[in-house]
Amino acid sequence: MIPLPLVNHRVGRAAVTCEYRCGDACFHDVPNTSDNPYFGDLVSRRTALKAGAVVAAAATIATPATAAAAAPAEKSQGRPPRGLDFKPVQVNTKDEVVVPEGYEQGIVIRWGDPLFPGVPEFDFDNQTAAKQEKQFGFNCDFAAILPLDPLELSGIMVTNHEYTSEPFMFRGYDANNPTEEQARIGWAAHGLSVFMIKRSLFTGHYKPRFSKYNRRITLNTPFEVRGPAAGSDLLKTSVDPTGRKVFGTINNCSGGVTPWGTILSGEENFNQYFANAAGRNDPRLTRYGVTGTATTRKWERFDKRWDLAKEPNEVNRFGWVIELDPHDPDSTPVKHTHLGRFKHETANIRVADDGRVVAYSGDDERFEYIYKFISTGKMKRGNSKAARRHNMTLLDDGTLYVARFKGDSPASEIDGTGKLPSDGKFDGTGEWIPLAAGKKSFVPGMTAEEVYVFTRIAADKVGATKMDRPEDIECHPRTGTVYCALSNNVERGVTAGKEGATEPNPRINNRHGQVLELQERRSDALALTFNWGLFLVCGFPDDPNTYFGGYDKSQVSPISSPDNVAFDRYGNLWISTDADGKLDGLNDGLYGVPLEGPERGHLKLFLTVPRGGETCGPVIGERVITVCVQHPGEVDGANADKPVSNWPDRGTSRPRPSVVAVWRKDRGRLGEIG
Ligand code: FEO
Ligand code: CA
Ligand code: CA
Repeated sequence: MIPLPLVNHRVGRAAVTCEYRCGDACFHDVPNTSDNPYFGDLVSRRTALKAGAVVAAAATIATPATAAAAAPAEKSQGRPPRGLDFKPVQVNTKDEVVVPEGYEQGIVIRWGDPLFPGVPEFDFDNQTAAKQEKQFGFNCDFAAILPLDPLELSGIMVTNHEYTSEPFMFRGYDANNPTEEQARIGWAAHGLSVFMIKRSLFTGHYKPRFSKYNRRITLNTPFEVRGPAAGSDLLKTSVDPTGRKVFGTINNCSGGVTPWGTILSGEENFNQYFANAAGRNDPRLTRYGVTGTATTRKWERFDKRWDLAKEPNEVNRFGWVIELDPHDPDSTPVKHTHLGRFKHETANIRVADDGRVVAYSGDDERFEYIYKFISTGKMKRGNSKAARRHNMTLLDDGTLYVARFKGDSPASEIDGTGKLPSDGKFDGTGEWIPLAAGKKSFVPGMTAEEVYVFTRIAADKVGATKMDRPEDIECHPRTGTVYCALSNNVERGVTAGKEGATEPNPRINNRHGQVLELQERRSDALALTFNWGLFLVCGFPDDPNTYFGGYDKSQVSPISSPDNVAFDRYGNLWISTDADGKLDGLNDGLYGVPLEGPERGHLKLFLTVPRGGETCGPVIGERVITVCVQHPGEVDGANADKPVSNWPDRGTSRPRPSVVAVWRKDRGRLGEIG
């Protein structure tokens, strides 16, 4: 019997980071050139013609949790709720992890640490692909802990390794002439790591252990393609004429833990790894940002699968949500085609009242969409082998939807600054538009297979709402409200021909992002309509056009570019950031914020990560918080020959992406220090 998760945790960047992580997504033309209008625009026009009717209808719809957000002056400020009673840290530019008074921290695992007995200790100057296959990978992003006991003393930790930054991995790296061994190290440093952790009773420090669970998933690991597009001609290659078997997963950003104890992980900026799209004149490639000739890493020189001229369909085999069973190290991980193909940030599950499962996922690029999948089958309770086997098929059959949002304020009041409209809220309603179910397409002119493989194009056709980079999306374990981090969009209303401010994306040149609350219209997750509101409009609190759930802004921490969201056992929201230096060059961090009561919106900074790093993959336990520190020291002008960070090994060492654990010095419960 396998213990199931106690809580459904999930859980301007340097140019070099933009190039290696996202393939310079921010510097390319935005791939979404569709002219599908924002639904609010249609409403506004209609409102002008039939004044009152639509507004009156909207007014009958209760707004979700945002309804609780009163004007700041009316709020009383009380004691911090359970889990958030800590003194916030100050924003800073230090080359270290900064935690609140009364807390301690330690490294759980670093890039290159061995995961198996007999594997050599990491040696920066003598790395090999064979060693990297057995060591912790590079640039950890998502993390999850599957507890192996109820006291959080041991667990299985799973992390994603989003991308490699070769100039920081090799001294004297020649980007024009990488060696084959450097490419192979890159293949092995991508993917996921699975390993057991144990917590010291005396400190709270999690440390990795060798165990039967330990495993590396790399670009060489076989995956099974499942769902209605499995076996499609669009997925067949010379190596895999079945269209059902893919080696590896790539650019895995965030992820989720399913109620049946598996891991979901999103393949995000896969486009950048594929060479020689130029000249193909294929709109299905450009819609995904697959453009250009040579790639940054030049892997196409060492394996033809990265060369579109030689293997045109390999690119269609990435951009999926994958599922991994960490409890079974011999299991074959899966690519789920029914959840669609786009730049998946993540996927997270909510179980509907009748047992069907709902997966939410965002497409993280400017002006892209939010999706939802509803299964046909129902989840079996319990953790027997038979139940788990059944539950691991639930994402194979169902219906895929995309979100269309409607604001309830007149378009004239959404002026692009972030100033609240006269009803005091950025809020409204929305609907889920069906795209495909099994072999049935709901999109005119597209087969179901095409909908799954070219999901962005299908969503364009049905008029989905263009959002400001949907990052993590996760369901509150108690209230069912869905929280989505919309990271930023500096092209909104700026670039000619691009959509301007809309009520869910209310700022032009949106540097700091917002956090969206979405509540299905009924308690049932199967609902096809929802209410929504913005919980946070991020930035500096002294900016009059930021919003912190209605809380007194003189009391909150500044925040930019929300990325990952997580919940603690008390129902508070935690947010980690990827601010690209947009917060005046200050370091990224992890924030806690209450969602209910008089303290709703009282955002507090819990920790910051070292210079150049990004805070990701928060796991909020009862006594330990873990975060991943991705790309520490990755700032322009730096590289392995000129490091600007020596975290975490200090001295003259090179920075190493790592997982950090934070606990109370007195080993008490988190957030209960007065
Ligand atoms: Fe890899 Fe969407 O952040
Ligand atoms: Ca409104
Ligand atoms: Ca992310």
